[in-house]
Amino acid sequence: MMKQTILLPGGAGFIGSHIAAELLTLGRDVVIADDLSNARADVIDRLERITGRRPVFYQIDVADHAALDRVFASHPVDAVIHLAGYKAVGESVLKPVAYYRNNLDSTLTLLEVMADYGVKKLVFSSSATVYGPANPIPYTEQMPTGGCTSPYGWTKHMIEQILADACVADPALSTVCLRYFNPVGAHESGLIGELPNGIPNNLMPYIAQTAAGIRSELTVFGDDYPTPDGTGVRDYIHVVDLAKGHVAAIDYAAAHTGWEAINLGTGRGTSVLELVHTFVSVNGVSVPYRIGPRRSGDLPAYYADAEKARRLLGWQAEKSAADMCRDAWRWQQNAREL
Ligand code: WQD
Repeated sequence: MMKQTILLPGGAGFIGSHIAAELLTLGRDVVIADDLSNARADVIDRLERITGRRPVFYQIDVADHAALDRVFASHPVDAVIHLAGYKAVGESVLKPVAYYRNNLDSTLTLLEVMADYGVKKLVFSSSATVYGPANPIPYTEQMPTGGCTSPYGWTKHMIEQILADACVADPALSTVCLRYFNPVGAHESGLIGELPNGIPNNLMPYIAQTAAGIRSELTVFGDDYPTPDGTGVRDYIHVVDLAKGHVAAIDYAAAHTGWEAINLGTGRGTSVLELVHTFVSVNGVSVPYRIGPRRSGDLPAYYADAEKARRLLGWQAEKSAADMCRDAWRWQQNAREL
């Protein structure tokens, strides 16, 4: 494999840092451009501790054309993994203009600068939320997308469309939209992981903070769904499996052109209570919980058909729910000291 330089806009965050760890370990050069709106600068030091190699880091707004141009002018970027964007579903409902401005502008600026420097390979951090509420499960990539239930979801759907149109205009362009299901867990080192701002919206960090005594109890958002135990079912995927999926997608993009959408999930559904019970049993902790009302906007159940990733990328998730819970707990204990 030729020496490769991969640019990670938004690469200092939860998903990006795990992708950076995989790429650095494989000997690829990594450049992170991040505004640190949802990340901490010391993740760079921790990436060096994990891999023995240090990514180059620029604290910039990816939508800032001049700043991003300086990054491309300074490094022979071979490919880009685009992770720069706001990602809180609930917040996007309260601040739609900020989400459209930030998520779309960063993408449009990135595509402009990539074109200026002849960079033709892009992997995009998309989301299963583009499938909307109407599709049957498991979701497959040829199903219709749209009908998104939040401005956050709409930004992902719109960016997929932008990339598809860019590929029609430039047949040499290669873009792979990775539709994440529910990324959870942390690197086994316990040195990188999810750092939710304030009260966690997502289940796994809330479970971990409850086990740590930071939260008094978990509220299970409804147990009257048409699911095996009545609680919501999702496709939780270990963030390290997700990161490895991005490496496979970069290698796929290097060998192909055109637009692709690929699910990154395990293909398995896990309920809220199943995850809670797994977390308790593998970690030997207690997670007090109460059953509360459903959260508006939640779907009863969704999970991936993971066949296309196996076929096209030669990738499939390998880690279990127990691995996810074990690694999430280790990170929760370490993060308090970091
Ligand atoms: C999972 C399940 C809740 C918290 C969202 C985004 C998705 C992606 C991942 C960005 C549901 C239940 C949760 C709690 C609970 N984000 N729950 N108590 O909503 O499936 O997906 O995060 O890419 O795009 O939509 O994840 O972790 O919030 O919820 O009972 O305190 O846990 O009802 O069934 P979700 P989640």
